[in-house]
Amino acid sequence: MSFSFPPLTGSKPERYAQLLEQVRALLHDERDRIANAANLSALVYHALPDLNWVGFYFFDGSELVVGPFQGLPACVRIPLDKGVCGAAARTRQTQRVDDVHAFPGHIACDSASRSELVVPLYRGEALIGVFDLDSPLPARFDGDDQRGLEAIAAAYLESLE
Ligand code: SME
Repeated sequence: MSFSFPPLTGSKPERYAQLLEQVRALLHDERDRIANAANLSALVYHALPDLNWVGFYFFDGSELVVGPFQGLPACVRIPLDKGVCGAAARTRQTQRVDDVHAFPGHIACDSASRSELVVPLYRGEALIGVFDLDSPLPARFDGDDQRGLEAIAAAYLESLE
């Protein structure tokens, strides 16, 4: 099987709409959460500019444990009371951090990271994990990125049903 992913074009919301369609096509007909997380990480990492880490942490019942990702090797376990990832999981709210150095408890896996966006992944009341993106640029993520990446995270969750 081969996939074709044409470059994204147009305004930022238009590019995210195209990326969401590519994500849906990529995850279509597969429910395995590792396989889909791996392919989704690869697609997003290569489709969007200015990212140094894109990937998943999965909740193992007590902590977040690193899953499929693109980027440098990362911290393996994150307690729910630590880091931007823990805050997203705990509060159930997307964390959009313009300056990770100003975020209390930020965990620096890659010293290049300057800004970060973490989307919590819940199926109903059940915490599945988080979808985490890091950028070497300060304030890399705006509201369009947040909406676009939340929709992509929702498509990932739907693929598991
Ligand atoms: N910075 C994250 C840790 C994970 S890495 O960015 C891959 C945090 O503070 O939770």
